[in-house]
Amino acid sequence: MAPMTSASLLLDSTGTLDIERVRARFPALAPTDDGRRIVHADAPGGTQVTSGVIEAMSAYLRDHNANSHGGFPASAATDAMVDNVRTAAAGFLGARPEGIVFGQNMTTLTWHFSHALDARVGSGDELVVTRLDHDANVSPWVGLAERTGATLRWVELDPATGRLNLDSLTVSARTRLVAFPGASNALGTVVDPAPFVEAARSVGALTFCDAVHAAPHVPLSQRDDGIDVLVCSPYKFFGPHAGLLSADPALLAELQPDKVRPAPNEGPDRWQTGTAAFEAIAGIGAALDHVAGVGMDTIGAHERVLSQRFLDGLSGLDAVTLHGPGNAVGRTPTFAVTVRGHTSSQVAAFLAARDIYTWAGHYYAVEPMRALGLLDDGGAVRIGFVHYHGADDVDRVLQALADLP
Ligand SMILES: Cc1ncc(COP(=O)(O)O)c(C=O)c1O
Repeated sequence: MAPMTSASLLLDSTGTLDIERVRARFPALAPTDDGRRIVHADAPGGTQVTSGVIEAMSAYLRDHNANSHGGFPASAATDAMVDNVRTAAAGFLGARPEGIVFGQNMTTLTWHFSHALDARVGSGDELVVTRLDHDANVSPWVGLAERTGATLRWVELDPATGRLNLDSLTVSARTRLVAFPGASNALGTVVDPAPFVEAARSVGALTFCDAVHAAPHVPLSQRDDGIDVLVCSPYKFFGPHAGLLSADPALLAELQPDKVRPAPNEGPDRWQTGTAAFEAIAGIGAALDHVAGVGMDTIGAHERVLSQRFLDGLSGLDAVTLHGPGNAVGRTPTFAVTVRGHTSSQVAAFLAARDIYTWAGHYYAVEPMRALGLLDDGGAVRIGFVHYHGADDVDRVLQALADLP
């Protein structure tokens, strides 16, 4: 008999994800003391964590809490743990362990990286940014342009499809950076990196991909895709609050980050200011184990079923407008909707009263909301599923939307 892998433990007899077994790994998904089940459809804002993550963080603090690079066992155990998680993170991102930088969150890592580009960008140079990005992949480049005198070139969003208009992706000999999303945290649109990488390479520019929203949903292959720098946030893929930056080690070595003098001059540690959150790194390791155990293909297949079910249900709700891709392919199960006769915060409050957690507003996706004409209009309600959601969750959200007075 074939050995039971972590993935097979989560599959039912038809080879599909057994949602109850998945949920059993997430303590926060258990029913409340009075028997209610919360639908955590706020996943694009942050996912729940597995008991493995909680245990790995506790075990680190309990058993070998110490600073790094010391001459005693607890410190050596910390160093070994960090090395192991670096290797696992590189596997997850399709990247190299020596290029993995741990940080507080994606935004802080991106600002830090953007400052290191000051020396590479000059007046009259160009930075490409998109109207589909979260502002953490826009504001740092606006700041870089302001500091250096560079100009921004925008890749426009087609509001009808929720996809980027690639005709507006233009580069020149002055382009220094092309920043783009792996997927939209507002509309769920998945973005093919190839045109961005091709355009950047044709003029020797760097590519910077915000994979925060893509990471829990889409397999990533940074090196194969030729992406120079990729950032993501483990708290969006079932881990603790932290950030990851992954880059070609040669690029990290070439650039000069802000750092204190005695900090290492080589390797990814050179980019990590101060002491790392080691317990969070231990938790990242457990989150990566969980994702690797389930498998991104299994996750993708399950999520497409959820997306199709949600889209089919929405088509029967006349008062609800979906903003973003209208089919289940090329998208994550993240949906931005508005409801006739209600503000988005009213809808989110109605859902919350039914134990369904969602977001209302722009969720820092300022440019997408502006392109959709919703920025000054209360934004949209964002309903976001991940692999721990099932058909029952989708149906509860649809029923609640149908019941809006
Ligand atoms: C697509 C996307 N990019 C960037 C960020 C910012 O990530 P962090 O909170 O790790 O700074 C978020 C957070 O919501 C996001 O969804």
